Amino acid sequence: MTATVSDLLLDWYDAHARDLPWRARPGHAPPSDGSWPYRVWLSEVMLQQTTVAAVKPYFAAFTQRWPSVEALAAAQEEDVMAAWAGLGYYSRARNLVKCARAVAELGGFPTSEEELRKLPGLGAYTAAAVAAIAFGERAVVVDANVERVVARLFAIEEPLPGARKAIRNHAERITPARRAGDFAQAMMDLGSGICTARDPKCLLCPLASQCVGRHAGDPARLPIKAPKKAKPLRQGRAFWAERHDAVWLVRREGKGMLGGMRALPDDGWSARSNGAGGPKGETLGLVRHGFTHFDLELSVEQVAEPFGDGEWWPLEELDSAGLPTLFAKAARLALAR
Ligand code: ADE
Repeated sequence: MTATVSDLLLDWYDAHARDLPWRARPGHAPPSDGSWPYRVWLSEVMLQQTTVAAVKPYFAAFTQRWPSVEALAAAQEEDVMAAWAGLGYYSRARNLVKCARAVAELGGFPTSEEELRKLPGLGAYTAAAVAAIAFGERAVVVDANVERVVARLFAIEEPLPGARKAIRNHAERITPARRAGDFAQAMMDLGSGICTARDPKCLLCPLASQCVGRHAGDPARLPIKAPKKAKPLRQGRAFWAERHDAVWLVRREGKGMLGGMRALPDDGWSARSNGAGGPKGETLGLVRHGFTHFDLELSVEQVAEPFGDGEWWPLEELDSAGLPTLFAKAARLALAR
């Protein structure tokens, strides 16, 4: 079975691989200018929790501005944070700079999964993906797409997240020694285009003949997921102080939520369950935003005086402030009032 699944999948990938800016064409050598591991690593960090469509313009902008890991290592952290604005999960951007500096110090990316894993902020998934895709190492790469494919292929009935161990063991069994990077990306492409969450296109699937979930009749019900807890709703306030066509912006504390990002001043909603601090202003409207562990309802309030340690930012140049999506929404609301 092992050889069959990977052979079928790689044949399919040779004909149907998505053409993505961080990829080599299947069966073609990657560019030999030294930027290849950098591009693979950068794309894999960006693609965590984020769609291919959302990542593409950021990948283009980053690689144009910082074409090598050395260039990124020499960047100001604030510039990288601002360039990341809108992609979400901002700790990724901070870790990106840390990791780039460590790699530059080493003189280049280590080539094994084990050594990659030792880099700051580089998790198990990214280490496996970079080892396989950039260096051809036989590493077992499991993201949410791969989880879905494997759970169906082997009809794993145990619910996620408990099923992760079994899924990994099965993924390990089908991972080939040859073309490990193409295999990993083929599994991702299959999961995102064919073996989709709600409506798997089994008639087009190269693994249909091998798929126990399909033979059992209803692959779409897999993987089974433990019921999600309802997200709590938090409430907070953000302050809009405007003077001479400029708005007062602060930089958020380094470690907390949206840490290091430029923002409107607020009442501290991110540190407590609901915000409590700050002046009382005139309400301009409400913005809703979903974070991983809670939803936020943010009241945007106009205030007369600036609040917190910050700077006046020209309204005309607000696009270049690098506001995370929550505050970009709040600013749009204030400007449209
Ligand atoms: N998602 C995560 N990594 C990916 C890759 N290399 N190609 C396509 N989708 C991905």
